[in-house]
Amino acid sequence: MPDGTTVTVDDLVAWVHRFSEVIDEHADELTQLDSAIGDADHGTNMRRGCRAAVDALAAAEPADVTGFGRAIAMKVISTVGGASGPLYGSFFLALGTTGGSAPSMDATETVAALKAGVAAIRSRGKAEPGDKTMLDALLPAIAAMEGSLEDGGSLADALQAGTDAAEEGMRATIPMLARKGRASYLGERSIGHQDPGATSSWLLLRSASETLAA
Ligand SMILES: Nc1ncnc2c1ncn2[C@@H]1O[C@H](COP(=O)(O)OP(=O)(O)OP(=O)(O)O)[C@@H](O)[C@H]1O
Ligand SMILES: [Mg+2]
Repeated sequence: MPDGTTVTVDDLVAWVHRFSEVIDEHADELTQLDSAIGDADHGTNMRRGCRAAVDALAAAEPADVTGFGRAIAMKVISTVGGASGPLYGSFFLALGTTGGSAPSMDATETVAALKAGVAAIRSRGKAEPGDKTMLDALLPAIAAMEGSLEDGGSLADALQAGTDAAEEGMRATIPMLARKGRASYLGERSIGHQDPGATSSWLLLRSASETLAA
């Protein structure tokens, strides 16, 4: 059970289980968003990826944070075609590497691991802030979590601040012009639609705040 200050591997596994449930609930909405500016598969991709991640964790029974990240990444990258699979796969791999061989992380280590995950998405996808991607939800979330900890916030405070910032960042993608992925082919016509990946990233943060420091 989460004790509110330390994130264990069991908490991380609970996060992925919760994320998978939330993705199931929002799959149609994600696909609808992707049908406006993409190829209508984001809900399906995320569902497939989350199920693969849950199965991989059950098979691997990771003992430390690195093992957790590695188990998910290998399976998700190979299971999900499309841009989002390798990007989320890189996120979990880097999160695990930074979390290290310890069985748990404190608040500062947890935010550092999340930050490394987001940096991996950025270096793999080569997107910049404002390109209308998942990074437009994730980068503000990391900044908000760091700010919250600097202000003396708890892990729960930081994750809540991160979730709120991700939601705001997700909404801020609506007026943006897409510069990455299939949505960029639409040019000006991508304006006025919320980015599907930014939406799943907000759900990722929301699931984290429900499970990691509950
Ligand atoms: N280079 C990138 N960097 C960061 N995020 C990206 C990048 N390319 C796409 N994305 C994110 O992936 C989401 C689309 O994921 P999806 O599962 O639909 O894969 P896809 O259909 O192959 O993607 P796309 O059509 O964007 O190439 C986008 O909404 C965007 O947030
Ligand atoms: Mg798509």
